[in-house]
Amino acid sequence: MTGLQGKRLLVTGAGSGIGRAAARLFRDRGAELVLAGRRLSALRETLPDAELVQLDHGDEAAVADFAETCGPLDGMFLAAGELRTGSVESTATSDFEAMLTTNLRGPWLLAHHLGPWLKEGASVVLVGSNIGLRAIPDSAAYSVAKAGVHMLAKVLALEWAPRHIRCNAIAPGPVHTAMVDARLATSADAPADLARLAGVNPLKRLGTEQEVAALAAHLLSDESRWTTGTVIPLDGGADAVF
Ligand SMILES: NC(=O)c1ccc[n+]([C@@H]2O[C@H](COP(=O)([O-])OP(=O)(O)OC[C@H]3O[C@@H](n4cnc5c(N)ncnc54)[C@H](OP(=O)(O)O)[C@@H]3O)[C@@H](O)[C@H]2O)c1
Repeated sequence: MTGLQGKRLLVTGAGSGIGRAAARLFRDRGAELVLAGRRLSALRETLPDAELVQLDHGDEAAVADFAETCGPLDGMFLAAGELRTGSVESTATSDFEAMLTTNLRGPWLLAHHLGPWLKEGASVVLVGSNIGLRAIPDSAAYSVAKAGVHMLAKVLALEWAPRHIRCNAIAPGPVHTAMVDARLATSADAPADLARLAGVNPLKRLGTEQEVAALAAHLLSDESRWTTGTVIPLDGGADAVF
């Protein structure tokens, strides 16, 4: 029992990190994949045989164009996102707007334009963040955008329930992908920062892309058919204690 056999799923951010791991896991579990991201070469490296779509998900005209021909979907895993650091006072308004566009406007546009393609019984999984649940210093715009993603999942769960379409969000803690590497690249002491990131949760380690992908696979499958409107922290227990 694979849970995803024969389902046609869209994955954004599929050219790296969590999206890439998820696309490969969903494929291994029998899904038919449509992969979206801005770099076709990266998507091809993820799964050369999947349907590949070059798409900036914050560009409404591009999302609307894609929606013209997308075809029916059994689900979406919307993993694309970006982190820029800074406090409210130190973040340039252009960076604040970029964080809203990449992290919140993208999933909003995809839900808005592709919603009509979702089949009855479909499931959509958004990727928020545990720092969209609790505040930490220095990631203000990103955190605010991810908090919006969590509410978007709840609103969509309500709006789509009459069509038996579910929507949930995963709120991961730190996972060692390119996103964390980019953050560490500006650190004066990267190993110490990495150890600090790992140390904030009771399990004392970072998560893996595969662990996020496994929860997403469960939420996209019919095994979770009574789960909707939830925001699930996936963070080694950090949400329980800090
Ligand atoms: N890693 C963590 O610690 C962590 C923790 C909590 C939440 N998250 C969230 O998990 C998700 C995946 O992140 P990751 O860690 O796997 O980082 P990643 O490797 O940097 O992946 C982010 C992906 O998003 C895509 N992307 C960014 N802007 C886009 C846009 N405007 N349009 C389309 N695609 C875009 C990028 O692809 P292209 O550049 O090719 O477009 C890239 O493949 C993100 O939403 C992130 O916020 C990550």
